[in-house]
Amino acid sequence: MHKDLDYVMFDQETISRRVEEMGRMLTEEYAGKSPVLLCIMKGSLVFTADLMRHLDLPCTLESITLSSYRDMATRPGAIEVASPVNLDLTGRDVIILEDILDTGKTLSFTLNLLKLQNPASMKLVVLLDKPSRREAPVEADLVGFTIPDAFVVGYGLDYDQKYRNLPCIGVLKPSVYS
Ligand code: XMP
Ligand code: MG
Repeated sequence: MHKDLDYVMFDQETISRRVEEMGRMLTEEYAGKSPVLLCIMKGSLVFTADLMRHLDLPCTLESITLSSYRDMATRPGAIEVASPVNLDLTGRDVIILEDILDTGKTLSFTLNLLKLQNPASMKLVVLLDKPSRREAPVEADLVGFTIPDAFVVGYGLDYDQKYRNLPCIGVLKPSVYS
């Protein structure tokens, strides 16, 4: 275990088994279709890379980068698209891949933005769901794991841009924050 972790919530093998299962479910559901996978950077990079290799479908891959300023007193709740959205999702079956659904503010903003492009369908797939923190009315169509209210890192998720490369998902020691 990494020295900065208090405990491991999901080990590499548990994550891998669940992601494979999610891939099988999506493969069945989208049989005969060619969905576009939309990776929300950077947190969903690892999840997307693993999940897409369990999709037996002719899919394509796109990404958008969002910046959330929800912790800044000056602009509470503001979210910006940090990379230009030059995607064309018109008429496409879109599978949005997100690392974690927390308050729902990021995804609520993102879903509204993407709807403007008139996709044929949109499905929200999240690796982790923290339902106890929800503020915006967003629910995922497929969830990897439902978790309690703890700040997690690893498998793409960061604290201060670090720990994204950990193969497991875990909770940091309180001393790391102070
Ligand atoms: P909201 O609250 O808008 O947040 O649903 C979603 C985004 O916030 C980040 N987030 C986390 N990142 N560990 C992280 O590393 C966490 O426990 C956590 N909770 C929320 C994340 O970027 C997500 O896309
Ligand atoms: Mg994120």
